Amino acid sequence: MAFNKRVKIKTLLEQSPIGESVTIMGWVRTRRSNKNVSFIALNDGSIITNYQVVADPNQISEEILKKCATGACLKISGTVVESQGSGQTSELHANSIEVLGEADPEKYPLQPKKHSLEFLREIAHLRMRTNTFGAVFRVRHALAFAVHQYFNDKGFFYIHTPIITASDAEGAGETFKVTTLDIGNPPKTEDGSVDFKQDFFEREANLTVSGQLEGELAALALSEIYTFGPTFRAENSNTTRHLAEFWMIEPEMAFYDAEDNADLAEDFLKYLINYALNNCQEDLKFLENRLLDEEKSKPADQRSEMGLIEKLKFVAENDFVRITYTEAIDILKRSKPNQKKKFQYLIEEWGADLQSEHERYLVEKHFKKPVILTDYPKEIKSFYMRQNEDGKTVAAMDILFPGIGEIVGGSQREERMDLLVRRMEELGIPTDEMWWFLDTRRFGSTPHAGFGLGFERMVQFVTGMGNIRDVIAFPRTPGNAEF
Ligand code: 4AD
Ligand code: MG
Repeated sequence: MAFNKRVKIKTLLEQSPIGESVTIMGWVRTRRSNKNVSFIALNDGSIITNYQVVADPNQISEEILKKCATGACLKISGTVVESQGSGQTSELHANSIEVLGEADPEKYPLQPKKHSLEFLREIAHLRMRTNTFGAVFRVRHALAFAVHQYFNDKGFFYIHTPIITASDAEGAGETFKVTTLDIGNPPKTEDGSVDFKQDFFEREANLTVSGQLEGELAALALSEIYTFGPTFRAENSNTTRHLAEFWMIEPEMAFYDAEDNADLAEDFLKYLINYALNNCQEDLKFLENRLLDEEKSKPADQRSEMGLIEKLKFVAENDFVRITYTEAIDILKRSKPNQKKKFQYLIEEWGADLQSEHERYLVEKHFKKPVILTDYPKEIKSFYMRQNEDGKTVAAMDILFPGIGEIVGGSQREERMDLLVRRMEELGIPTDEMWWFLDTRRFGSTPHAGFGLGFERMVQFVTGMGNIRDVIAFPRTPGNAEF
């Protein structure tokens, strides 16, 4: 007989088949015993709720019951009966318990008490067995699924762009090198530099920072595409919003201008939020309470004005604010924290790059809504962004979210060959190496646009988790690649 003749706890809770014999498998969260009976709370990850199992010592040997400690993995067969206790409609009366994997209670690091998120990060191989991380990863899954659902429904094609590339798409951000050379003793050229001609790709290669440039090539053939893959940035940013390895969703659309691009981004973000609200109710409820609890330790003025679910609904139901960079600078210049020199970086003149303190002021204090900021100075944005008539700004778009700051970055692209080449030359980007990118402007160019959504920042927003390390299974950050 096949081993996996079990019913998932999610299904059992939905159906409560009173009187039937079923088998469940999962990990013990807690066990309470008295002389007459043991109560085992079992969780199999299918849903946040534990399933209550009642084990009678006349039926289950003491030796087995002793092994049903927190963390142990059990296979339990029994009869579904109406629940005596509150909350749950049914429970299982065990006829047999098989211990699939023991967990020594003296050594098992996860105990049925509250552990700090910092501690749990050190045991990331086990933290998914907690309510918090179970909820986070179920929501993360739902959001990833919703990404594909959204674009598939709209007729976009999913393109798998390369992870190893020879170009640094953004021209910004440090890349991770990819090489098979002996790094202790690499071959050298006559002038003493490393001879990458002898490397695997016969040239320097790195992990991609973005799939955009290849995405543009695909959009200028298939019209509407998206990528959803891992991206890598070797910046030494030790913040609650940065990972060295993160996942990005990058739609790219032919025949879209900047406004079409913003419309799509706003609609997409709202769709993802609604998808989670409709499909992850129990987990979001749990995460909302977790956040409330966490915020109790904060001073009153630093707590969120809205609960998690209310905040998600608010963002999904209201228009985002759309303003230009120039308007934002005016607001920031006149703002209290700028006048009172409370910003770490004071806004003095047009052209300044916005720091996260400025973005958060705009979103959290001034507008209290997501903001789409457009038309940034060309000096602080990438070479491929479409140059505006004013000669100073480009058709860039950043979307700023409460509690997160920048969640989306994108633009209309420069489709005009002469202007693109001139900008690349100004910035010292080698046009000969980018021949393939320029070919799309040379042959059948057209207005097009796209953006990148940082997937982990989106998961952070929806789950209310404060640290990006807590929304990806095994975070990679400076000094940290364990697991
Ligand atoms: O603004 P970025 O750098 O834009 C691009 O890479 C463009 N090529 C996107 C495009 O137009 N197709 O990154 C896009 C988003 C950011 O808004 C942020 O949400 C996220 O990616 N992001 C990070 N997330 C986690 N850790 C990091 N180190 C991140 N860097 C960017
Ligand atoms: Mg950006």
